[in-house]
Amino acid sequence: MAKRIDVSGLNAYYGSFLAIEDISMTVEPRSVTAFIGPSGCGKSTFLRTLNRMHEVTPGGRVEGKVMLDDENLYGAGIDPVSVRREVGMVFQRPNPFPTMSVYDNVAAGLRLNGKYKKSELDDIVEKSLRGANLWNEVKDRLNKPGSGLSGGQQQRLCIARAIAVEPNVLLMDEPCSALDPISTLAIEDLIGELKERFTIVIVTHNMQQAARVSDRTAFFNLAAVGQPGKLIEIDDTERIFSNPSVQATEDYISGRFG
Ligand SMILES: Nc1ncnc2c1ncn2[C@@H]1O[C@H](COP(=O)(O)OP(=O)(O)O)[C@@H](O)[C@H]1O
Ligand SMILES: [Mg+2]
Repeated sequence: MAKRIDVSGLNAYYGSFLAIEDISMTVEPRSVTAFIGPSGCGKSTFLRTLNRMHEVTPGGRVEGKVMLDDENLYGAGIDPVSVRREVGMVFQRPNPFPTMSVYDNVAAGLRLNGKYKKSELDDIVEKSLRGANLWNEVKDRLNKPGSGLSGGQQQRLCIARAIAVEPNVLLMDEPCSALDPISTLAIEDLIGELKERFTIVIVTHNMQQAARVSDRTAFFNLAAVGQPGKLIEIDDTERIFSNPSVQATEDYISGRFG
């Protein structure tokens, strides 16, 4: 099967600091891949190279190749804005646009991307909120501010906003780390549903979560602070958590460090 994402020889820098070195991996369509590893090993940095967000940071620079299907995201003439539409992102802290209504939060990306009739927007907003398992909770308050929702609802609102523009890939950077356990389970269930339509890459510091939600797990590590983070291994999640190939992975998942 064609790989949806195919990364080879990827380095990412902040100025002269090499944060991640020589990463190569593939991600299959309609799967969930979890990134785990100790803090500072470059999980977030790597995730942001997958939709050209890394270069938004001053000094942020990337070498290597990220193929999305047949297209090199770092090829000549590629528009980073259209990349970010194809590859959506959900962040650690729910970040709905605070002054906007629930409805407008979901419609925001669509309005940027083109002209829709009101009835079309209504349909997409409803579909996206249903897709994010939020519709029933907000259908009577679509015109109230998104910031009035609970943390877990806000995160599902951000997921609705991300899927409204129909990306192919969804990147999630510790999407549950600011949420209570019930909201966390709601997001985990949602990830299970979303993978039928999207390819998902999720960073998590919670190994139980990685084990619950992902098909594949990638373990990142760094030799020492100031050294670049590296991909140590990627394999089926079941295998990573039962019989990993590398001792450092075993040490990490059994809680011996990190
Ligand atoms: N904006 C930045 N400027 C400079 N260095 C950064 C920046 N963001 C992250 N780093 C550094 O890059 C390395 C990887 O960080 P990060 O990708 O956030 O790791 P993780 O998500 O695994 O905790 C760390 O050494 C971190 O200090
Ligand atoms: Mg991080």
